[in-house]
Order: sequence, then structure tokens, then C-alpha cells
Amino acid sequence: MSSLIADRARRTTTPQRLAGWVDRFAALDERPGEPGVTRRGYTRLEREAHRIFADEMVALGLAVRVDEAGNTIAELRGSRPELGAVGTGSHLDSVPNGGRFDGVAGVVAALEAARSIVEAGGTNERTLRFVAFAGEEGARFGQACTGSRAVAGLLETGALSALVDADGITLGEAMTAVGLAPEGIHQAGWDAADWDTFIELHIEQGSVLAEAGMPIGIVDVISGSTRFTIDVVGRASHTGGTPMRLRADALTTASAIILAAEELANDARHHGTRITVGRIDVAPGSITTIAGRCTLHVDVRDTDSTRQRESAAELVELARHIAASRGTSIEVTLLADASPAILPVSTRNHLVATAADLGLPYRVMPSGASHDTQMVNHVCKGGMIFVPSLNGGVSHSPDEDTAFDDLAIGVDLLTAALTALAVPKRPEDIA
Ligand code: HGY
Ligand code: MN
Ligand code: MN
Repeated sequence: MSSLIADRARRTTTPQRLAGWVDRFAALDERPGEPGVTRRGYTRLEREAHRIFADEMVALGLAVRVDEAGNTIAELRGSRPELGAVGTGSHLDSVPNGGRFDGVAGVVAALEAARSIVEAGGTNERTLRFVAFAGEEGARFGQACTGSRAVAGLLETGALSALVDADGITLGEAMTAVGLAPEGIHQAGWDAADWDTFIELHIEQGSVLAEAGMPIGIVDVISGSTRFTIDVVGRASHTGGTPMRLRADALTTASAIILAAEELANDARHHGTRITVGRIDVAPGSITTIAGRCTLHVDVRDTDSTRQRESAAELVELARHIAASRGTSIEVTLLADASPAILPVSTRNHLVATAADLGLPYRVMPSGASHDTQMVNHVCKGGMIFVPSLNGGVSHSPDEDTAFDDLAIGVDLLTAALTALAVPKRPEDIA
């Protein structure tokens, strides 16, 4: 794919500049001695990353503000402010021991696109906005896309106290602890009249593009996700004194439920559904005590909303049946639910036309992961550009990797797409 670089004058950025930014953000790591990057949402280090973004945008002469949900928004005012704005951006938080590119690639792309547009000196009629979202990963509080939910007006204020991390800190407490104002979260909402299009660049987090040798993906639908906990309630008891026939073992029940979830997702009836139990909490967690209680953290994904929710409901019923058959019971708590987002054809076609104009091969494809654009799409026309993930597409892992040449191609496409949108076509242009 780097041959594409050789064939075209560099339009906007360089792999070296991009590598410098990615390294700079990767250094903001809560667990420096461990593999990967850990920069959870609503922590001091996430705010530090937003500050780096803000400082660069101020240096470029853009007006910058941080909203009540911690999103950082830089603006290059257009000559026709009455027109809806065009924006780009992504997130700066990570999962624990995650990769260096998830979210960061899109924020770095926004930084470089802003620099190129400012240095090009052209006049943008539409206002351009460059955004770093806060709290996109659901890893800490279970609900994903907190910052972008807030701008889309989709964050219930009840979530601020209902969502709790593994240390018992609520979402609202975490926001306040880093200087934000969650009580005013409803003021973070974007006015649809003030927006036209938002395009996010993101790593694919899959292997489709790399296996096809394709430099660009253009997303048509973003998977939805239904996330919930299943508490398996058994009876803690002595591992020596309790005969097998008298046990109500929460952990063996949880194990049966996890395997049943995998079997359900693999069933042809649910083709396309992905079900994962990525975390299990066991109490009391002692080698000499039969587990009395287990909490399974379940993530159900699909690009089809009916299949997504039917799979989740079927799994809960299955879990209830398995628990009863093993002398235990379950309690289910919904953490978050997001519908799949079908991105507007007009934005997709604009990205396709721009890619063709740049001579870039592309593939229109779904996104298995969820993204901030899924929420922003409630306010304005959303679009997504994927760049290839290497190492078999692994992500949410220290092995996550993307070639900077490929990222540079994605930034070229993003910058060209934004630049074209910044000057709306007049009817006479279309004639
Ligand atoms: O969970 C996701 O799909 C995204 O990485 N937040
Ligand atoms: Mn992401
Ligand atoms: Mn992620």
C-alpha cells in the first residue's frame, strides 16, 4: 500500500509527523510498566491528552472550548456561519492495556487536517470543528461513548450516579474529580441546525482491509451493542465440607452460561451476532470457598438491531434456565444499549467520490466496533474512514498496530473530504 504514497505528492501530512503524535499520546499511560496503553476515561491522563490537543489547536489559531462532558472542541469559523458546520475527531481514552491507535488515530488525523487546512490558507465557508471526545470506551463504566452521547443529547443524567467503575466511583464523581461539571451535562448537547457533517477516521480493528490489501474503508453501518451484567447467585460454602450434590456453585453456573453464550452466538440463526463475556467478578474469591456470587459483564454486538436485542433476550432466558437447573438464580442489570447506526448515503458517497478523486482504492464495509460517530449521527450526517489494522486486526490489545503510511493516506482522504465540504457546491457548480 505504501506504493500509493510514492504515486502522489504528499497532500497533507507525513508518516513521521503522525508517528510523533501517536508516541506523544501513548506516553500518557496509567500503567507505564505494563504492556500497551492504559488511559481510562475521566482520569487525569485523559485530561492531559485533551490539553495537548487543545494547545495545538490554539497554536493554529482556532477557538477552543471544553464542554461539561469533557469533550474538547476546536473551531475554525467559516465565512458563512449560518451554514451547518463540518467536523472531524475521535476519542483519547483507551481500554486497560489497550493499543496506541484506537481513537488516537482519529484525533491525530484531526490535528493534521486542521494544520493542513490552516496552512493552505483557503477560506472555508462552513465552520470547521475538530473534536476530541471524552470517555468513549465502555471499559471503565460499562457504557460507551459518554462524551458523544452527551453532545447527541443521549446521556441520561441518571447515568451519572448509576454507572460505577470497579473501584465504586460513579461516572459523575469521576467527571467532577477531573474538574468537569457533570451537573450541567445537558448543556453539552449540539444543535442539529448548527451542524452538517461529521467524519471520523478510525483504525479498522479488524483484518478485512489488510487481507484485501486495501488502504481505505468507508463505513456504511456501525454495530450496535447491548451491555449488561448477569449476577449469578449461589451459596458460598466450605470446599472441603460441602459434598458435590449439595452445592449451589455460582462459578460453575457462570461457566455454563458463558459457554452457552458462545454457542448461541455461533448458531446460524444468530449469524452476525457477537457475544462476549470479557470480565467476571467472583465472590468471595477464595480457594477454600465455593463461589457464592459471580458477576458476568456481557457485550452483545450486531449490525442488525432486532437480532442484537433478540440475542440478548435469548441469552438472559437461557442463563435463567441454566441457573435454576443448578440450584442458583440470576439478577440482570442493563448497563447500556446502543442501536446500530446506518450512516447516510450522501456522506458515504462524498467519501467515495473523494477517494476516487485521489486515486485511492476503497471498500465500503460495516464496523464491528462502536464509535463516537454512532452518537453524533443523531445530530448530523455521520461518516467514517477506516485505515487498516495490522497483526490480524487485533485491537484493544498492546499488539494493535497500523502502518503510518496507511494512516497518512487516511489523513489525505479526510483532509480532502473536509476541504470539499467546507465550500458547499452552489447550484451553478452542479449544473
Ligand atoms: O467498544 C467498542 O467497540 C469501542 O472500541 N468503544
Ligand atoms: Mn475507538
Ligand atoms: Mn475502543
